[in-house]
Amino acid sequence: MSITSQQLENYQRDGFLVLEGLVDPAACDRLRARAEQMVQEFDPKGLVSIFSTSEQSRTSDDYFLTSGDQIRFFFEEHAFLPDGTLKHAKEQSINKIGHALHDLDPVFDRFSRSETIRELVTALGIKQPRLLQSMYIFKQPNIGGEVGCHQDSTFLYTEPFDIAGFWFALEDATIENGCLWAIPGGHGRGLKSRWRRMSPDSQTMEFQIFDATEWPEEDLVPLEVTKGSLIILHGLLPHRSLENRSANSRQAYTLHVIGGDCLYPEDNWLQRSPSVPMRGF
Ligand code: FE2
Repeated sequence: MSITSQQLENYQRDGFLVLEGLVDPAACDRLRARAEQMVQEFDPKGLVSIFSTSEQSRTSDDYFLTSGDQIRFFFEEHAFLPDGTLKHAKEQSINKIGHALHDLDPVFDRFSRSETIRELVTALGIKQPRLLQSMYIFKQPNIGGEVGCHQDSTFLYTEPFDIAGFWFALEDATIENGCLWAIPGGHGRGLKSRWRRMSPDSQTMEFQIFDATEWPEEDLVPLEVTKGSLIILHGLLPHRSLENRSANSRQAYTLHVIGGDCLYPEDNWLQRSPSVPMRGF
């Protein structure tokens, strides 16, 4: 299955494309079961990293900054009691797993390198694709954190902009449980900022601001989708998700693919060690 020329036009116009019901529900369940197993096997050993939407707090987090070629676990900001212990079971406290599941875990590798995804990447015009980043996002019931409006190219910068995000809904995503929101056509407004290392090996990060204006709230539209749907996101598309205060989780798997010819700077946060190079399909 690939996309029609009309769908490609819509993607180029809107900066995103929704493909409802692309993935078989059983395949969604296999990813969910595997992620659940990984969390069960994860022993925090006091090594706790919180994924916060205030990006500044990531700046000194070595566990995050060296996770580009690893499988690591990040907790929800609201998962802890004042004494530092977890409010809920570990399984209900993890915000996400990242960022190389697609290379290091056989189940996610197989899913990420499926013929369907490869064909979609080709249809989008990404040449000699490389699979850069994967994340399993839990958006836990009651405590699932907000991810403020951003462009993925802020964090995964390439020259030229040659990156697409694949966002797979592993459960129904609704306004109540924290679905994606996006600004249709917002990718045409250019990149607002880059989050980069002060120098290539530095663990200190900075925002390089190109345009300090805010994205207008009224321009954001919710993208509610059913389980198994795929949302393809242009790297420059402004998007966000709100907190999940509902009793239902909103699990998703995301994969970012870049073109083989584009420049991937050494001061991007996500770096791969030479022993685990980026690979294609
Ligand atoms: Fe994003």
